[in-house]
Amino acid sequence: MAKLTIRTDDDPILGKVCKPIDKITPRILTLLDDMVETMRHASGVGLAGPQVGVLRRIVVVECEPGVVYELINPVITHREGTQIGREGCLSLPGQCGIVPRPMTVTLEATNRKGERFTVTGSGLLARAFCHELDHLDGVLYPAVAQRMMTPEEIEKLYAEENDDD
Ligand code: NI
Repeated sequence: MAKLTIRTDDDPILGKVCKPIDKITPRILTLLDDMVETMRHASGVGLAGPQVGVLRRIVVVECEPGVVYELINPVITHREGTQIGREGCLSLPGQCGIVPRPMTVTLEATNRKGERFTVTGSGLLARAFCHELDHLDGVLYPAVAQRMMTPEEIEKLYAEENDDD
């Protein structure tokens, strides 16, 4: 496995719409492995193709350690409820926003064996699914945020998190 470079900030690739994956090749399987490694190394809960310079509809999510979702050509088929919460992105370091998302989403995707499957997630998992799938359409969370947090708020947040240690 290899750690990939995460594209950040004004990198134009982050604003592009990704193409579907037609065929699951060994290259795609390696990409999934590398994306999981890269996400973990960066302490993220999700990562999408464009963030590692690949304009394909591919996402990995791991909100709970060891429970990895590998999503190829994912499509949200159902949304329910609303949650409003804090969100950040590995591609926008040092930023944080307040973002409304559905409380529960169901999506359909292809797994690494080429099988189509359905998964439903709530809370943080639903938020991660929505955030990562938005990346595939070139949408970063500030575009859908209620508001971005101020540097003072972010500083306070970091201080609180350090208190927990
Ligand atoms: Ni992101």
